[in-house]
Amino acid sequence: MKVLLIGSGGREHALAWKIAQSPLLTTLYAAPGNPGVANCAEIAGINVDDHEDVLQFCRKAAIDFVVFGPEAPLVAGLSDKLRANGFLVFGPSAAAAQLEGSKGFTKDLCARYDIPTGAYQRFNNAPKARAYVRQQGAPIVVKADGLAAGKGVTVAMTIDEALAAIDDCFEGAFGTAGAEVVIEAFLDGEEASFFVLSDGRNALALASAQDHKRVGDGDTGPNTGGMGAYSPAPLMTGEMIARTMREIIEPTILGMADMGHPFSGVLFAGLMITAKGPELIEYNVRFGDPECQVLMMRLTSDLLPLLIATARGTLDTEKAEWSDDTALTVVMASNGYPGSYQKGTVIRSLPADRDDCRTFHAGTALSGGQLVATGGRVLNITATGKTVSEAQVKAYEAVAQVEWENGFFRHDIGWRAIEREKSVD
Ligand code: AMP
Ligand code: GLY
Repeated sequence: MKVLLIGSGGREHALAWKIAQSPLLTTLYAAPGNPGVANCAEIAGINVDDHEDVLQFCRKAAIDFVVFGPEAPLVAGLSDKLRANGFLVFGPSAAAAQLEGSKGFTKDLCARYDIPTGAYQRFNNAPKARAYVRQQGAPIVVKADGLAAGKGVTVAMTIDEALAAIDDCFEGAFGTAGAEVVIEAFLDGEEASFFVLSDGRNALALASAQDHKRVGDGDTGPNTGGMGAYSPAPLMTGEMIARTMREIIEPTILGMADMGHPFSGVLFAGLMITAKGPELIEYNVRFGDPECQVLMMRLTSDLLPLLIATARGTLDTEKAEWSDDTALTVVMASNGYPGSYQKGTVIRSLPADRDDCRTFHAGTALSGGQLVATGGRVLNITATGKTVSEAQVKAYEAVAQVEWENGFFRHDIGWRAIEREKSVD
């Protein structure tokens, strides 16, 4: 089978690494890819923003299966175009990708199918939004409706903060993504990410993970795309997973089919585990980054048949097997991220990959034979261990071997789970 993987981050390196191990694979192509992906795949020199270019490549290379990493090309309709031209695709239609592309769409779905989530209202103008915030009080959460690169959410601890966030949205800080605003109740609890595959009718639970969104140690500083993750998330017990499937995931899959937008792909539920149980914060229609890296390190099954069954509608006969070990990844980012940072700084040396410790590339490139950092998040140093503490020690030992002057990382990835482990000892 010839596979084309779309995307260029650490998530795609982890997917490429896993897909490349499949006995079903003949050739793996990737676009745009990165130097890590290039170790597992042939880079297809195509522009993924040019849908016609991608289609022509798929025809010429006789691609059997296209796997999407990121959400942007899904929301832009590339999966629809490829499907309409007869290609087998892993990734939802643009209509189903609204689960990530429009927060209002997802909240309305929750209301319609009784899925637990914070109470909310949608607004298309500032005065009504401001009045609602004044009436509800703080803490309260203000969200730009559309895709805003993870920056469109303000968890406002005061009314003034919420009012300022409303003004930002309607004054165009997030472009068209902010033309509509969702205001929702603040949910108190601990967050977890939960991943399932769905073929439009069936849902197959994958695994849980916990991300670290803030840039600084102790969960301080601005939000980022994620500075590290581990899997599984200890608070996602068997019982909590069963509740999440029953109360959140299954009604979503049924609801999407019922509304004429069956969801086929990976559904990433951002959950708040509150005193009442799991509540939905948001959906993404793709694997998390860096959550995918820890999931792939733990998945012992062949990934490719699972993705194919998702695309073909035969997930009911599939099973996913996982290692009981914990996987933990530390993100190394360019100094200054998530603000502005220097591009092109040289990474002189990386630790050698082993079965229990690997480096996934995110924003890297080769320049004059040297590996350089080109993005905000650059490397994902990922290790496994019997406990979170053991995986953490191994990951940070490997981080210490990276020779890159311009990089930084959080020193406390896994802290919540490690506190739990200590309290059990
Ligand atoms: P989102 O982009 O919707 O995942 O939101 C980004 C982050 O904001 C989440 O990971 C949460 O930490 C926080 N957040 C979003 N919605 C809520 C909410 N209703 N209550 C508390 N925190 C929230
Ligand atoms: N790490 C969070 C995300 O991928 O959205």
